[in-house]
Order: sequence, then structure tokens, then C-alpha cells
Amino acid sequence: MTGNKLFDFDKSITRQGTGSRKWDALQDVFGNEEVLPLWIADMDFAVPDAVAARVAERAEHPIYAYNIQEDTIYQSLINWVKRRHGWDIEKEWILLAPGVVPSISLSILALSEPGDGVIVQPPVYPPFFACIKDNERKIVENPLISKDGRYEIDFTDLEEKLADPANKLLLFCSPHNPVGRVWTKEELTKVYELCQKYNVDVLSDEIHSDLIYSGHKHTVFASLGKPVIKQSITFMAASKTFNIAGLNFSFIIAPCKRRRGAIKAWFTRLHINRNNLFGVLATEAAYNEGEAWLESLLYYLEQNADTLVDFVQTRLPKVKVYKPEGTYLAWLDFRAYFTDTAELETFLIHKAKVGLNAGKTFGAQGAGFARINLATQRSVLLEALARIEKAIQAIQ
Ligand SMILES: Cc1ncc(COP(=O)(O)O)c(C=O)c1O
Repeated sequence: MTGNKLFDFDKSITRQGTGSRKWDALQDVFGNEEVLPLWIADMDFAVPDAVAARVAERAEHPIYAYNIQEDTIYQSLINWVKRRHGWDIEKEWILLAPGVVPSISLSILALSEPGDGVIVQPPVYPPFFACIKDNERKIVENPLISKDGRYEIDFTDLEEKLADPANKLLLFCSPHNPVGRVWTKEELTKVYELCQKYNVDVLSDEIHSDLIYSGHKHTVFASLGKPVIKQSITFMAASKTFNIAGLNFSFIIAPCKRRRGAIKAWFTRLHINRNNLFGVLATEAAYNEGEAWLESLLYYLEQNADTLVDFVQTRLPKVKVYKPEGTYLAWLDFRAYFTDTAELETFLIHKAKVGLNAGKTFGAQGAGFARINLATQRSVLLEALARIEKAIQAIQ
């Protein structure tokens, strides 16, 4: 990984006044305008120049009406998945979609029946619970276990849940938000073998798969089997990687014709058959021309993760930090100070004045925890940590 200074991630860019959910909704979200926001998963960094230029160039033409789907986007997706993840995919496996969460929801509808169990591994990305519940399926928990400073899958419990014929799907987060694990090939193989054994389909949310730190390697779940795992649906997007989530574009990779057909039928039924013009162009530009920017971003983010760990260990030693192996999110355990989640929230929002994601939203296992977003200027991260340190000193 290169540490070049070609891209300046330290440069501060004011986001207030741009309709940013992270920065412009502080009163709504936290009830306090003064919090420094390090919560929702987007970044305080400018997109690669090539992405901004492609969007601006198209925006120059003042008609943004119905567009056709140029074939070039498929080639960009195929090349990216091959280059970054070593996985050969075919055009016909790909379904273009507005976002990963709606795609997960539609896939649940397509591949299970009301009342069926869908397994999740909390603490986990909150919409996973909603996608299951809102579609009248049953949330079945296979909680992760914290061991030696990192989270692991409880395979004994997972096997029990998979063995129950009422449970039809595993909704898998890889890499895992919020605990930051990049699952190893061995772990993935175990999950694969168990799902094979009990004939459970896997919905593998790999939206964070481009955000991997040194010493770790992402393996696409579906690529584990030869030639490919037909029981797995993969969800990907350039939205987290290149900070273009507002452009609403993602893609599903479904190698199995029957399962792909079932998902497609739900898109048809709901008449979701167009893609955001700018989302497609931005993704294409990012995947074709954004790789050097991404390498530089990863270097910067990893230094932020190191900064966080160092600060917490030296200046907030009773707080426990899980260093992310991937994703720009980190999981903090405040239970040495707060067992009551409401007290922790009041402390963070009104005493420390930092806006983090409350741990309890990631499942009951998150009580006493918070998620911090590292994708900001290092100075902002340090300011947030200093605020937490000062507020902790005041309660000791
Ligand atoms: C695991 C995971 N899946 C999906 C999403 C959001 O996907 P989308 O905005 O495409 O619906 C996020 C955003 O934070 C995420 O962390």
C-alpha cells in the first residue's frame, strides 16, 4: 500500500448546508446542535476527481430525463470485482439496483416466506433487523462472541440455528459492520460448509469489501465454491468505497438462475426498473479511474484507526476498542463506565458532545457500546477523542 500525498485527506471540507444527514440533522438526530458528528457511514472526503468530473460533465447538459442503460457499466463492475477480489463474474448474473438495503429486502421477499427465520449475527447493521421484521420474517440471532480483543462467529450456535428447518436464510455481513472483522477464508469456509449441510441460502452484504486494511484479505463468500456458490447472493456498491451513497446505485450478483429470477420478479412487481443516471456514471468513473485514490484513502483510514487505538489505549484505558480489520467504523466498549445505555448516550451527546451511533441500535448486545466513524480528517477524530477524554475526566 502506498502512502503517497497525491490526495489530501487532511483537507477540511465544510459539509454543513449541503443537506448532509451526518452534519445537517444534528438537532433531529441528537437533540444537540453542538455535537461533532462521527456517526452515519459516509466520509468527510471529496470523491476522486474523475468521479466529480464525470458527474459535472453530464450535469452540464440540462436534461436529466429517462436514460438508457449503457452496456459499459457492466464491464466496469465485472473488471472491478475481478481486479479487487479475484472473482470472475458474468454479466447475466448482475442485477442493477438502487441500494443494498432495498436489495436485501427484496431478496428476503424472493427467497423466503412469511414466518420463515432469517439468521443475523449481532451486533450488526441495524437495517438488517428491519428488513427481516418489516417483511414479516422472523429474526433469529446468532450473536458474535468477543474473544481476545476481537469478535468471532459462534459456530456451535450457528449450526444449531442452521439446523432448524424453519430458518431459511443467513443474512451475512462481510466485512462486518460494526465490529470491523474481515472474515478469514477459514471462517468463511466453515460458514459455507454449514450452510451447504443444512441447505440455507446466504445473503452476503459485501458493501464494505473494498475497505480492507493491511494484513487482511477479503474473500467474496460466493467465490469460495467451485465454480461458484449458487446458494449465495452478493450485494456490492461503490457507495461506501467512493463516498457516493447519495447517488443511490448498487448491484446484486446472483449466479443462480432460479434465485436471480425470483429476485428480478420482485423488482418487476415493484416496478423498480431504472437506475439513477448519476449513480451509474459515478460508479463507472470510480471503478475505472479511482483505484489510486482508494489506495491512498486506505492508507489514511488505517492511520486513523491506529490513531484511535493508540489514543484509547493510552488516554481512555478503561474504554475497550476493537481495531477494525476493514470498514471505516470502529466499535467502542464503554461498559467500564456505563452499564445503562441511556446514561452512555447522555454522556456522549451532552457531556462529551460527540455524535456516535448508539450501540444498542445494533442489537441488545450493543448496550454500553458505541460505533465511531473514522472517515474524517484526523484533526476531527482527535478533537472528538479529546472531547471524550475531557468528559470522562469530569465524571471520575
Ligand atoms: C452493511 C451495510 N449494508 C448496507 C448499507 C447501506 O446500503 P445502501 O445505502 O446501498 O442501502 C450500509 C451502510 O452503512 C452498511 O453498513
